[in-house]
Formats: sequence, C-alpha cells, structure tokens
Amino acid sequence: MATPARSDAQRNILVLGASFAGISTAHYLLKHYIPKLPNSSSYRIVLVSPSLHAMCRQACPRALISDHFFDQSKLFVSISDQFKQYPKENFLFLQGAVTAISTTETVAFHSLIVATGASTPSPLFGFNSGDKDSLRAGWEPFRKALPSAKKIVIAGGGPAGIETAAELGEYFNGRAGLFSKSKQNVEITVVCGAERILPALRPGLANKAEKMLAKLGVTVVKSIRVFELEPAGAGEDFDKLTSRATIRLNNGQDIDADLYIPATGAQPNTSFLPSHLLGADGRIMVNSQTFRVPDIARLYAIGDCSAAFRPAVHNIAAAIPTLAANINRDLLIAEGTQTNIPDDREFKEDTRETQMVPIGTKGGVGAFMGWAFPSWAVWLLKGRDYWLWTTPALWSGKQWNKAS
Ligand SMILES: Cc1cc2nc3c(=O)[nH]c(=O)nc-3n(C[C@H](O)[C@H](O)[C@H](O)COP(=O)(O)OP(=O)(O)OC[C@H]3O[C@@H](n4cnc5c(N)ncnc54)[C@H](O)[C@@H]3O)c2cc1C
Ligand SMILES: *[C@@H]1O[C@H](CO)[C@@H](O)[C@H](O)[C@H]1NC(C)=O
Ligand SMILES: *[C@@H]1O[C@H](CO)[C@@H](O)[C@H](O)[C@H]1NC(C)=O
Repeated sequence: MATPARSDAQRNILVLGASFAGISTAHYLLKHYIPKLPNSSSYRIVLVSPSLHAMCRQACPRALISDHFFDQSKLFVSISDQFKQYPKENFLFLQGAVTAISTTETVAFHSLIVATGASTPSPLFGFNSGDKDSLRAGWEPFRKALPSAKKIVIAGGGPAGIETAAELGEYFNGRAGLFSKSKQNVEITVVCGAERILPALRPGLANKAEKMLAKLGVTVVKSIRVFELEPAGAGEDFDKLTSRATIRLNNGQDIDADLYIPATGAQPNTSFLPSHLLGADGRIMVNSQTFRVPDIARLYAIGDCSAAFRPAVHNIAAAIPTLAANINRDLLIAEGTQTNIPDDREFKEDTRETQMVPIGTKGGVGAFMGWAFPSWAVWLLKGRDYWLWTTPALWSGKQWNKAS
C-alpha cells in the first residue's frame, strides 16, 4: 500500500463494512475531523458494504421467529440515508464486497479502515455474505418449518445460543405457571461445549439462566460438543437450513433434530487481507490501544474483524473516538505542512463483567460493569426490544454529535 503522491487531488478514506464499527467511524470522522482538515473538500469517506442496510443484529434471536416482534423499518435502515447530512464531496457509499487487498501495490486510497465484522455459521444471525434479502432467505424457510418442529437442537452456550433457545422456548412452550411444569410442546436442547453456559458472566448468573430456561422447556447439556452432523452442512447451508439432522456428540451419543441451529463461534470476514496480517483465529492483528495495523501507514481495523477487544457493540462504541482521533492525527501528519499535531490517543478496554442476556420477552440475566442486574432491569435495557431503542442514534450519527 504505497502512499499516493500528495498532489493526488482526491484523498479517499476507505471504510470497509457498514455496521456498528464502519458506520460509527464514518460519522465520527465526518462530524469532528474532516471539516477541520486543510482543503477539507479533498477528503472523501468511501463506505463500502455488500448491504444497502444496517441492521440491529442483536435482535436476530427474536426477529428470526416472526416479523411481528419488531418494527421492520427500525430493524433495517438505509445506510445512504444516514449520510445525506454531510457535504456530497465528503462522502460516497459503494455497494459491494472487497475481495482482495494487496499491501504492496499502489491503490487509490489514502487511508483504509477495515470494519468487516464476523459471520456466524448459521445464516439466521446476520448478513454474512449479502443483504436483508439473504437474511430473509434464511428466515422464511425457518419460519415455515417451525409449526411442524418437535425437536430443536441449538449448538453453543454463549448469548446467541441461549437467547435463541429462550425465544423459541417461550414461543412454543409458553411460561410455566406458578404450580405447573412447562407445557413442553417442543423439545429444545442446547449443546454447550463448555462446563457452563454464558462464560462471560459469573457462575451464579449462568445458573439462574439455566433455571429460567428450564421453565421454558429448554434443556442444557454441558461439556459436550457436536462432533459430526448428518447431513453435513445442516443448519448452515441454505439448502439444508431446515433439514432434519442427526447430531453426533463427542460422547458417542446421537440426537435427532427437526431443526438444528449452530450458534457457535463467528468467523471474522478477513479473507481478502494478506494472511500475515491475521492471527490464528483469522482476526486482524492490530495495536489494541491505537487500532493501527503495525508497519502499514494509515491502515486500521476495528470491531469484530479485529483482535483489539472482545466482540461487543459497547466496546466498539467506546473505541470509536480513539480510533478517529488517531486517524485524524495520521492525516495531519500526511499533509506534511501541519504544525500542532495532536498526540496519539490510547484505548483501554473495560473488562469488567458486562453482558445482558434476555431469557424470553419477560426477563433475563445480566451484569453491567461488574454489577449483577435483576431480571426486570435486563428486560428494561435489552429484553424489551434487543437494543433496538439504541440503534437509531448510532445509525444516524446523533450518538456522535459531541466529541469525546
Ligand atoms: C445473534 C447475535 C447477537 C448479538 N448480541 C449482542 C448484544 O446483545 N450486545 C453486544 O454488544 N453484541 C452483540 N453481538 C455482537 C455484535 O453484533 C457485534 O459485536 C457487532 O455486530 C460487530 O459489529 P461490526 O461493525 O464489527 O461487524 P458486523 O456487525 O459483523 O458487520 C460487518 C459488516 O461488514 C460487511 N462486510 C463483510 N465482509 C465485507 C467485505 N469483504 N467488504 C465489505 N463489507 C464487508 C458485512 O456485510 C457487515 O455488514 C451479537 C451478535 C450476534 C451474532
Ligand atoms: C483541494 O482539493 C481539490 C480536490 O478536491 C483539488 O482540486 C485542489 O487542488 C486542492 N487544493 C489545494 C490547495 O490543495
Ligand atoms: C464473510 O465470511 C464468510 C465465511 O466466513 C463468507 O461466507 C462470506 O462470503 C464473507 N462475506 C463477505 C461479504 O465477504
């Protein structure tokens, strides 16, 4: 990635991926730094995304069951609409996916911010490779298969697996009454590889979640992994999304499922980058304080595609001002004529126990900055609408009106 000569009229700042990380970075730069750069009109943010929409991905565990749960116009929002507020010369949206980037050839960008996130093995939990339509192409057959499902198996004891199990449990089996056991119309099993579910929370909260799940007819098996699937690709490939499957476990047991949902490890979308920039898990090795990719001028990575911090929206939101300040610093240095270059900023992840896990539409378990929250507070913050109350300000950039 040789630096284009400074006489290049247009200075493109490429942002790859338009979700929490990419959209927020673009807004922050456009609001606080681009207008103050020398010859501001020569700087252009080019936001690249295969999808025309941004979506509240956290809502997927409930949204996949039915469109009735959420206002669809809030769940999916047009990306380009969010950027109409800025001067035309400073912003361009490009629909497409980047397939290859070489760090040796000269390319027509001045800075590059990689924010391509991660894809889930199940296509029910995000855009993975496409747009709203590809997500719906998974949701539709899944919804059609729900009425005849009697046994559902979910792999993964993290929040996505647990939330999905709880939503399906409540949908099918309702709430157990005070004195009655749950109706258990549909058998739902979570296969959790770890010794306990929800490893980001203290054991007491995980145990509480398990008890709440039991009331919704959800059984959790722990320290057991899915070893093999018959047919292979069940629950992952679009043509086998609703295939009846036999799930072979690593304890030798087989379980059958009418629907199988893999809710295990997400894969970072980084295959277009040279492998020497990636760690063993495929995430971009980035300086976790500055978000710069070492040794390459003006290359940055942020969000789930990077190894900078644990994948969560609150971490991304906390990191954006630092990333943007450092991009600005590097742009000023590249101008070559600037004095008064601001200092580097350094990020430090808040690693206190923070995670909210709704268990159905009425409550849940969670903690915030090390404090356990009661079930009703988890409902109020997240379980009500899976954070949909927070996304309008993020997508529109209002969240970033004030510099911090
Ligand atoms: C089911 C589920 C529930 C979750 N719940 C929570 C929660 O409650 N709280 C929380 O904090 N976090 C939650 N998370 C995690 C959270 O969704 C992620 O941390 C967040 O979405 C990461 O944002 P991002 O911008 O880094 O990437 P992503 O949201 O993954 O978006 C990346 C974007 O980049 C695009 N892209 C991919 N490849 C390319 C390419 N080659 N070229 C151009 N564009 C590309 C993709 O299409 C996508 O739009 C959840 C995740 C899942 C799957
Ligand atoms: C400012 O940028 C424009 C391109 O947007 C370019 O044509 C012009 O020469 C630049 N002016 C200066 C003084 O660099
Ligand atoms: C993201 O990665 C997944 C596999 O991990 C792949 O199937 C998908 O096509 C990638 N998406 C984009 C937009 O490159």
